[in-house]
This record gives sequence, structure tokens and C-alpha cells, in this order.
Amino acid sequence: MNKNSLLEIKTISASYPGGMQVLNGVSIQAFEGEIVSVIGSNGAGKSSTLKSVMGFLNVTKGEILFKGKSLKGLRPEQILSAGLGYVPQGRVVFEKMTVKENLELGAFIFQDSRKIAESMSNVFSIFPLLEERQEQFAGTMSGGEQQMIAVGRSLMTNPNILMLDEPSLGLSPKYVSEIFEKIIELSNQGFTIILVEQNVTQALEICDRGYLLELGRNKIEGTRDQLISSHEVHNMFLGGGNS
Ligand SMILES: Nc1ncnc2c1ncn2[C@@H]1O[C@H](COP(=O)(O)OP(=O)(O)OP(=O)(O)O)[C@@H](O)[C@H]1O
Ligand SMILES: [Mg+2]
Repeated sequence: MNKNSLLEIKTISASYPGGMQVLNGVSIQAFEGEIVSVIGSNGAGKSSTLKSVMGFLNVTKGEILFKGKSLKGLRPEQILSAGLGYVPQGRVVFEKMTVKENLELGAFIFQDSRKIAESMSNVFSIFPLLEERQEQFAGTMSGGEQQMIAVGRSLMTNPNILMLDEPSLGLSPKYVSEIFEKIIELSNQGFTIILVEQNVTQALEICDRGYLLELGRNKIEGTRDQLISSHEVHNMFLGGGNS
């Protein structure tokens, strides 16, 4: 099967605007339709990698290609418009706004109200709960429901690829399972997914391929089965009670 490469992060080094270099040799590739999981200890550089793709860090070496074109020099909103969706770590919702208003904010790059309505109805078909609760203030929703708002908001620009940074963080087991089910559903709908997760067991189970980052660089990469049977992954996360 000859799949197209959608996103290719090629041996990047990157630093925060203050100058602190945090990545030094990260390479991640996502082919169309894949779920790619990115794991690693706290501080390994997982979030910084996604932020680099979105244009929030200075990429000082290497390059990032999306649909074969370099993202170099593009601003975050241009990167969104190009078809990259991003859900930052930490369930960022606007608490004093309704669910519907939160979703509308996700579509800020569209001027066209018909397009916004279409995206909204697509989000409601994936998350029926958000339609039922569309007038509720986001701040009064549960943690799991807020995560659905955050994911729903990122879908409002109709991205080709969705980068999720720890979507299950801090959620109760019921919501963790629900989020993972939704990720599979999104994948079945054709979204390519990059999933950063500390729930290593589940993240590896649902992925096609994955990467383990350590100290700002690639440590191990492989298919789902290769990673699940890797001694290193096992010792770090699956056997040591650290997942
Ligand atoms: N805004 C920032 N300015 C400077 N350094 C930062 C900033 N945010 C993160 N870092 C540093 O970058 C390194 C990588 O952090 P990053 O948040 O990418 O790790 P992570 O793998 O996502 O970890 P976690 O699992 O805790 O979310 C860490 O050393 C961290 O201290
Ligand atoms: Mg992180």
C-alpha cells in the first residue's frame, strides 16, 4: 500500500522564543489516515514538538513539511488554514462562553457563515452531547465534556490532520475510554491523527505507528506491535507502573 505522507517533521531542533533550545533531533512522519502516537517522559519534548509544527517555536534546524510543502515562516493561523488542527495540552476552553461560542471561535479563520454552520453540524454529528448542551457555559461542563469542546473546536477548520496533546490527561476512567473511542471514530472518518499521550498502553493499542521521545530527540520508533513488544518501552512505561 502506497500511502501519502501528510506531515513530515525532519530532524528538527527548536527553541522557545526566549532562546532555550528544547528539541534537538526530532523526526516524526504521519501518512494519510494513520494514528501516530508520541510517547515519552515528562519534559521529553512532546508538547514542544507539536508547538513547533504550529509555528510557536523557532525551528533552528531541520524542516517540517505538510502535504510536501515547508511550513517555514508561516504564522500559526496560516498553519491552521493549511489544514492542521491542534488541541493543546490542558483542555483550554473559554469558561464564560457557551459551548456554541467556543466552537465558533475555532472557526475564526472562516468568514463564511455557511461554512461555519457546516463545520458546526459536522462537530455535532461527532459529539451529539455538544449539540444538546450548545447553550451551556463551557465552565460548567465536566472535565471530559470540556475536552470534547476542545477537540470539537479544533475540528471547526476542517483539518486534514489533528494533533492532540494529552487529551486524556486528568480525566476519570469513563471519560478516558470515551476520548479514545472518539479518536478511533475520528480516524475512521478519515482524519489523520497525531496523539501525544501519557496513557501509554491505550495510546499504543490504537496507533498504527509510534515514537518514543527522550530529552528532546527520537529514542525509538516503530509499528504498534514493535513498540508494544519493545523491552525499552515496556520497562519505561508498561511494567514500571508509570503508564
Ligand atoms: N514556555 C517554555 N519556555 C521555555 N522552556 C519550556 C517552555 N515550555 C516547556 N519548556 C521546556 O521544554 C522541555 C520540553 O517540554 P515539553 O512541554 O515539550 O515536554 P513534554 O514531553 O510535553 O512533557 P509533559 O509530559 O510534562 O507534558 C522541558 O525541559 C520544559 O521545561
Ligand atoms: Mg506536554
